[in-house]
Amino acid sequence: MSFLESLPGSVILGPMAKGCNLPYRRLSVELGARVTCSEMALARRLKQNRRPEYALIRRAPEEPCFGVQLAGNKPEEMAWAAALVEERGASFVDVNLGCPIDYFTSKGLGAALARQPKRVAKIVEAMKLAVKAIPVTVKFRLGWNDDQRNYLEVARAAVDAGAGALFVHGRTRDARYRFAADWDAIGEVARAVSVPVIGNGDLLFPHEMEAARARSHCAAVAVARGALIKPWIFGEATSGYRDISADERVAIYRRYVALALEHWGDHDRGRGQVAEFTRWHFGFWCRYAPRRPDGSWPGMQEREDVRFARTPLEQLLARQDQAAHAWITERLLAGEDVDPAAAPPPSEEDTQPGSEIEVSG
Ligand SMILES: Cc1cc2nc3c(=O)[nH]c(=O)nc-3n(C[C@H](O)[C@H](O)[C@H](O)COP(=O)(O)O)c2cc1C
Repeated sequence: MSFLESLPGSVILGPMAKGCNLPYRRLSVELGARVTCSEMALARRLKQNRRPEYALIRRAPEEPCFGVQLAGNKPEEMAWAAALVEERGASFVDVNLGCPIDYFTSKGLGAALARQPKRVAKIVEAMKLAVKAIPVTVKFRLGWNDDQRNYLEVARAAVDAGAGALFVHGRTRDARYRFAADWDAIGEVARAVSVPVIGNGDLLFPHEMEAARARSHCAAVAVARGALIKPWIFGEATSGYRDISADERVAIYRRYVALALEHWGDHDRGRGQVAEFTRWHFGFWCRYAPRRPDGSWPGMQEREDVRFARTPLEQLLARQDQAAHAWITERLLAGEDVDPAAAPPPSEEDTQPGSEIEVSG
């Protein structure tokens, strides 16, 4: 199915550097995702024929609708890369206008590019001319900071230049993850343009997705951290909230390791990569908390106190220390049981509910 046909009501796996690695996208598809995005790939590095960048744009055969996100600020380079990713199977191609990281913004990429709507238009126009059939999309934040919220300008510039859909992350670059996403502003974009808008920010539970849709009238929503914390979020989006057991969670993590071994290879080097990625994913998986006994819901930005875990295995999975993540990863890689009684004792940091993790995007 084409990207635009897939959109109405869908919950998209948003683009994430590192997080949207191919095995994690396959896992998401197995758990119900219908539209997936790549990690951000740099147009320039593709043009320079850099092999690791090509790994980022590869589509898994199971992905029904796969979009590649490109970063770049030169229209001709972005046009060339758009044609390349279409040829290699992308269902849509997206322009990164939201990356907040200084390394990229200092080069005029990501959120810095969104400060120049005219340049955005030139890039979209050039990409649109270069592709044969797939839509060109852009993903942007509300602005650089609260004094420079130029989202309507960016939205109109992109649509006038031919963008087929817009991803809107409801925060500014300076806000990072400090404040809640502004779904009213996302709704303003949805009302202002004639193309589908995909809203994004803070969605963790199905009722939040429904509320965000109702509030913003977006065609679809995208999830990022929510999919890293609970990859079964895609199934929940269609079937409703499920109080998943710790054993089921371990089975899902085990499945990730199996897919990752297929991807990176079941040899020393491959297993090293799998271990590194799995430990990284545990930094998010450990943040999962079910609905609270009083019926309230844990927020994306909050950390639940590990003492609320209901079983020893839940307690182990809630641990935030590297030692626990490394130990569970080793068990999964060895195909062994994850027995909480055998785990190394918690370190100091486990006893403190942590604060928000700072991440890119
Ligand atoms: C680990 C990580 C990497 C990210 N990398 C990208 C990226 O490469 N491109 C992008 O447009 N956004 C990136 N983002 C931002 C997300 O796509 C999304 O806009 C943001 O996290 C808000 O959605 P959420 O509240 O559901 O997490 C990243 C987010 C995370 C957590």
